[in-house]
Amino acid sequence: MQKPTVPSPESIPLTRHSGHKLIQLANGQWSLHCTEVSETYHPVIGPESEAEQLYAGQIHIERMNSLSEFVVWDIGLGGAANALSVINAASNYTGKLQLYSFEHNLEPLILALENSDKLPYIQPFIQIIHKLLSHRLLEFQYGSAHIKWQIIYGDFPEWLNRYTSHSTEESFAVPPPAAIFYDAFSPKKNPDMYTLDIFKKLRVALDDNIPCLLASYSRATLLRTTLLLAGFYVGRGAATGEKEETTVASNSLALLKNPLPISWLERVRRSTSAEPLYSPIYLQEPLSQKHWEKLLLAPQFQANISLFDKENKERKY
Ligand SMILES: C[S@@+](CC[C@H](N)C(=O)[O-])C[C@H]1O[C@@H](n2cnc3c(N)ncnc32)[C@H](O)[C@@H]1O
Repeated sequence: MQKPTVPSPESIPLTRHSGHKLIQLANGQWSLHCTEVSETYHPVIGPESEAEQLYAGQIHIERMNSLSEFVVWDIGLGGAANALSVINAASNYTGKLQLYSFEHNLEPLILALENSDKLPYIQPFIQIIHKLLSHRLLEFQYGSAHIKWQIIYGDFPEWLNRYTSHSTEESFAVPPPAAIFYDAFSPKKNPDMYTLDIFKKLRVALDDNIPCLLASYSRATLLRTTLLLAGFYVGRGAATGEKEETTVASNSLALLKNPLPISWLERVRRSTSAEPLYSPIYLQEPLSQKHWEKLLLAPQFQANISLFDKENKERKY
């Protein structure tokens, strides 16, 4: 089989499109803002704390003690707050962190570097990020941990298609993850990244011998039904600022502290936006009868399904 190769730095443009700026949050901290989609990165409590609470803090990084390598897929590298939060967390463990950062626009990272005076989280890593931008792949020691950090440049859905078809070098070059940061703007602004097809492929990409925890800041019913229908277990994720909860998903129920209970299906029943996206077009629709029936078969609800009201089960639309 052909040996995997890393794309040459010259083949990757640094800027795909413009449209980012720094903005100051209500708490005084600075964060990146994408004017193209009108969304602010880590908008509630700022990049450093939000990355720690929602991403590095939820993936059970203590598993580094038992896994020979701890693989993280950082989907939506952006200004690297999530990536750096996991590097910081890993530095307390003796082990190997393999961090794959997926991104189709390196402008936010460059902007973050240029404004490091406003973004303290990036300051200890300025040299490392400069090297990463030139080589796209970097290995270094940080605290007790050995870090391998690689940028996978390009459109994530396209990459995932190639990855899951096992037909290309990607399948060999990138190992299945123990954690996924899913941080790619909202379903409304970036529907390409929230189709049922994407999450089914993401589920297929996991190795069920490696429990994997996916963290997303969204708590949308649409995202949760999509994850369940794609074959994930789904739970309530950590709160952040005034946001009461976020979403976590896994191929192992044991990794979820707060799996969605069967009573959550009542919310699905009432929701006007629960049907998964079939194509990269944002639509808000109640869950279809076909998907309602599939949802009831989700393994995480099966143990308790007899407790669920028969009337709900046979609901007609
Ligand atoms: C909210 S920002 C991520 C913030 C980042 N995790 C951080 O810690 O700073 C979303 C990122 O996802 C990237 N993105 C969106 N759609 C993508 C796609 N189809 N393929 C690859 N990257 C994508 C955007 O370019 C953007 O940088």
